[in-house]
Amino acid sequence: MDAFRIGYGEDAHALEPGRPLILGGIAIPDSPHGAVAHSDGDALLHALADALLSAFALGDIGHHFPPTDPRYQAMASGEILAHARQLVYQRVGDVAVVNVAAAITLDRPKLGPHRETIATSMAGLLHVPLERIGLTFKTSEGLAPHHVQVRVSLLLQRQ
Ligand code: C5P
Ligand code: MG
Repeated sequence: MDAFRIGYGEDAHALEPGRPLILGGIAIPDSPHGAVAHSDGDALLHALADALLSAFALGDIGHHFPPTDPRYQAMASGEILAHARQLVYQRVGDVAVVNVAAAITLDRPKLGPHRETIATSMAGLLHVPLERIGLTFKTSEGLAPHHVQVRVSLLLQRQ
């Protein structure tokens, strides 16, 4: 079995006023809108969980945690991520996250001031040092003002 595997995941949500914007397990303060979703709508953790599963061809979170199943509707995204890690562990044994590179496209609010808070949360969930979590923020240049798009790649190393 290979020593290294890459993974890739994406997620997107529509944004509506009056909802919390949660990214990487952090509620972004003073957001004018948040994700329309059954779950907490954390597109960053959903993309991250999909990236983990993809590295070992284990399908995706919609397959393992169907949104139609009431057990999963209320599940916090941190729990979904933990379940994805567990699935990987069961299939291939212990793997370490070498690094994560995530890009978030969002017009408002500015995420730059929250970069370290979000990265610290993700580092805690993945049990890796902060410097292994790279976060890139982009606007859509006004093309998708009511939309958040997340793309995540990561590298995993078998222990
Ligand atoms: O997309 P654009 O190139 O216009 O982004 C300019 C800057 O704004 C970047 O430095 C990026 O980190 C920041 N940004 C941000 N929060 C967003 C979108 C972009 O802090 N939601
Ligand atoms: Mg630009």
